[in-house]
Amino acid sequence: MDYKISKTDFGEKPHYELPKPLFYKELGEDGLVKLFNDFYDLLVESDISNFFPQDEKELEKVKAHNVKFFIEACGGPKYYSNEVGHFDMIKAHKPFSITEKARTEWLGCMQEVLKNVKISEEAKKSFWEYLEKFSKHTVNVDSGIKLPEDIVKV
Ligand code: HEM
Repeated sequence: MDYKISKTDFGEKPHYELPKPLFYKELGEDGLVKLFNDFYDLLVESDISNFFPQDEKELEKVKAHNVKFFIEACGGPKYYSNEVGHFDMIKAHKPFSITEKARTEWLGCMQEVLKNVKISEEAKKSFWEYLEKFSKHTVNVDSGIKLPEDIVKV
């Protein structure tokens, strides 16, 4: 599968689709819990480890909490809404300075764990496309990289 990552045009908040029900059907709740455990274990070893708790107990708490959001987003029980209520992607990530590079690293860790999961390509693709687009909403630091069309000719 092609884990394509397109660049964020700073400030854009693109429309995204939730993963197809097929993804949750194939992976199941236990599969998602395992996926996110493995994902966080990679994140704390990655170049963006500074964002995440290094303390094992704290990390376990974050894993258990965050997976609730993804279970719900994938069509499972509404664990996150019932516990927290409404989720605001921009507000939730505001305390962290997230560059395009940090987003790419985050997605890179997800790609590593997703590669090892035995589900259909269609299911993986639908989850990946959701993350790839929605993660653009978290980028809140302009890394200053300009697209060719932004460069004013003199
Ligand atoms: C589609 C992509 C993403 C989704 C759906 C997502 C969702 C979430 C959720 C639900 C939380 C917990 C909020 C709470 O209840 O306290 C969270 C926390 C956090 N997110 Fe994201 N996130 C995404 C991408 C990213 C990216 C690209 C980064 C880049 C570094 C990031 C960094 C963090 C950090 C540092 C936290 C706080 C620690 C933690 O709870 O893991 N997230 N995110």
